[in-house]
Amino acid sequence: MQEQNQREQWGSRAGFLLAAIGSAVGLGNIWRFPYVAYQNGGGAFLVPYLVALLTAGIPFLILAYSIGHRFRGSPPLAFRRIDRRLEFIGWWQVAISFVIAAYYAVIIAWAVRYAGFSIQQDWGSDPEAFLMEKFLQVGDVGTVSEYVSGVFWPLVAVWVFVIGVLALGIRHGIQRANMFFIPLLVVLFGILVVRAVTLDGAELGLDALFTPDWSAITDGSVWVAAYGQIFFSLSIGFGIMITYASHLHRRADLSGSALVAGFANSSFEILAGIGVFATVGFMAAASGVAVGEVASDGVGLAFIAFPQIISTLTAGAGFFGVLFFLSLVIAGVTSLISIVQVVVSTVQDRTGLARIPAVLIVGGGIAVVSILLFPTAQGLHYLDVADHFINQYGVAMAALVIVIVLAWVLRKLPMLQEHVNATSAVRLGTWWQVLLGIVTPVVLGWMMWDSLRQEFEVNYGGYSTDFLLLVGGGVAIGALVFGIVASLFPWRRSDDFQPVDLPVAERGERT
Ligand code: ALA
Repeated sequence: MQEQNQREQWGSRAGFLLAAIGSAVGLGNIWRFPYVAYQNGGGAFLVPYLVALLTAGIPFLILAYSIGHRFRGSPPLAFRRIDRRLEFIGWWQVAISFVIAAYYAVIIAWAVRYAGFSIQQDWGSDPEAFLMEKFLQVGDVGTVSEYVSGVFWPLVAVWVFVIGVLALGIRHGIQRANMFFIPLLVVLFGILVVRAVTLDGAELGLDALFTPDWSAITDGSVWVAAYGQIFFSLSIGFGIMITYASHLHRRADLSGSALVAGFANSSFEILAGIGVFATVGFMAAASGVAVGEVASDGVGLAFIAFPQIISTLTAGAGFFGVLFFLSLVIAGVTSLISIVQVVVSTVQDRTGLARIPAVLIVGGGIAVVSILLFPTAQGLHYLDVADHFINQYGVAMAALVIVIVLAWVLRKLPMLQEHVNATSAVRLGTWWQVLLGIVTPVVLGWMMWDSLRQEFEVNYGGYSTDFLLLVGGGVAIGALVFGIVASLFPWRRSDDFQPVDLPVAERGERT
């Protein structure tokens, strides 16, 4: 077990904040938010979205920071230190992070290739056929998988890079990478947005995105989508913030940092919405179709609609394409680093291994699974189903269990609130406990119920029940079962950790 004084620490508050922002700002901000916002009432969506940020996103971020900071451990160790019976939650999050890291890296690998394809617009006149047939060589579900070498090499490169950064440690690896990449991302994406809003027809897209459809506000599913987006975007439930906060100095401003990270993430998200929809508006104007016909979600938006738009640009098409896909790569890599770090830190806490062997074992292990499964003709199907199920029934479910257990079963929120208030600039009141103990579980419970209901109504993505049970059920149930089983093994070394109570008087210089 890494003891308190051996635990590597962030070099500065800015270092921690940039890493936390780098973790939150990811693929979800650039390709998920714009479409979710557009589909759910456009400008009116911003109301439930901001309510979700303030009532659940930021309170949960503060909770995760306080757990990591007070109990100074990766999720299994931190939860074990709260109560021995909670260790399984931490392992569950470790399994969730493992699964997400394995496929998240693949999307980054596609973006790496597409940055290259952008220069000459190699996708030609039919980007959809290019993506599905030529690049990914997607086969029907269940067909024997061909290996797709076009994805293999960039995927290897992504993993080598991520493992390299992690091997350098918290301060010299993760912090340094984020201090370089996050400002770079803001500059690159800033240029892209400026170019996008000056395109002919940009206003059509922005009108579509921001014209409020107020009737959407009374629709329950719009609220579910808003909370879902906030949870996904802030990476709530992955265990990342528990891990990152375990490396903070004793006197760290937890609530202030959560506010900065939460607002920075949402600002980037709204900026991405502006950039993406301005570009979509240009395409709609150029081809004389409605904005709704150009906008599509996830993979379709980034890898089919965007290439098409890039090809339509008369000047600077290659430059625009490189900016877009490079931004995706940077946003994705800084998130991937944080997801893998959850597993690395856990292996270190559990085995006492030094960082480099732990990084090689963990990074190598996830990389092998990622490289074996995803660059295949079945890869897109695995990715689609694993992503849906691990987010709905892994990430969101783990977050639900955490708030119920801490608020209602063990009643730990007052103690955590005191801990936050002892070190932070923004003091928490009872409202924090109300939001976490009542609002968050009600919303998460409703979301869970709503998606389960839909699961039984229609097969997700039109896949067969067998395939959904095998891949989707496999990752979602498998992660929970892994969590329970892993928590049953006794820890060999004793843990004499005692949380330090910080007297309020100690408040002063904060990190
Ligand atoms: N929060 C990360 C994202 O938005 C996982 O992609």
